[in-house]
Amino acid sequence: MSEMTLDRQEPVANKSLFFRRWLRNPLQMGSIIPSSPSLCRKIAAAVERGPDEYVLELGAGTGVISAALLAAGVPAHKLIVVEIVPEMADFLRRILPGVNVICGDAFDLKNTLPAHMHGQIGTAICGIPLVLLPLERQEAFRDAVESVAPGKGFLLYTYCATSPLPYRKLGLTARRMAFTLANFPPASVWRYRP
Ligand SMILES: C[S@@+](CC[C@H](N)C(=O)[O-])C[C@H]1O[C@@H](n2cnc3c(N)ncnc32)[C@H](O)[C@@H]1O
Repeated sequence: MSEMTLDRQEPVANKSLFFRRWLRNPLQMGSIIPSSPSLCRKIAAAVERGPDEYVLELGAGTGVISAALLAAGVPAHKLIVVEIVPEMADFLRRILPGVNVICGDAFDLKNTLPAHMHGQIGTAICGIPLVLLPLERQEAFRDAVESVAPGKGFLLYTYCATSPLPYRKLGLTARRMAFTLANFPPASVWRYRP
């Protein structure tokens, strides 16, 4: 199969893999289809990164945001994507050459990320449906990010009309960075900081 044919088939493979995983575990996936190009571009535009810093994407799914980050100029070797489902991590390795794809748990970043990446992260992006989780799990996520990206907080995209996290209870500040109608459902991008 030529590269060209493979590229044309990728979006179909992407949506079908996403949907199959949603059928298997709807709570872990949180959405029935991948984020739209508009939402992915808005997330990429909210990224802050020093020249030597990494961007960390948690819950990369089929890599639509990863691709937007690369298109926005994040070098492949400065992008780390963490995905808990081995089949999806394998897919990501295939479509994102040069990117640091890690199959692991975003709630255990201290052990999931190699030590040399700790403290070197400009922006963390959360794709995990935190809004569906109890406060203790949201706290665990906040602490996991803080353990590898101290003081940076994270970006979170959501379909909620208001903040998806009880940020005061979590000791975070919150700011809505962007909104798009061109996503199913319409979505916002929030930045949370300690
Ligand atoms: C809503 S999907 C987002 C996919 C993609 N980023 C997008 O916007 O289309 C959530 C993804 O998070 C992954 N995930 C869920 N829990 C995770 C965890 N604890 N660690 C890493 N990835 C996780 C799921 O397997 C799924 O691929």
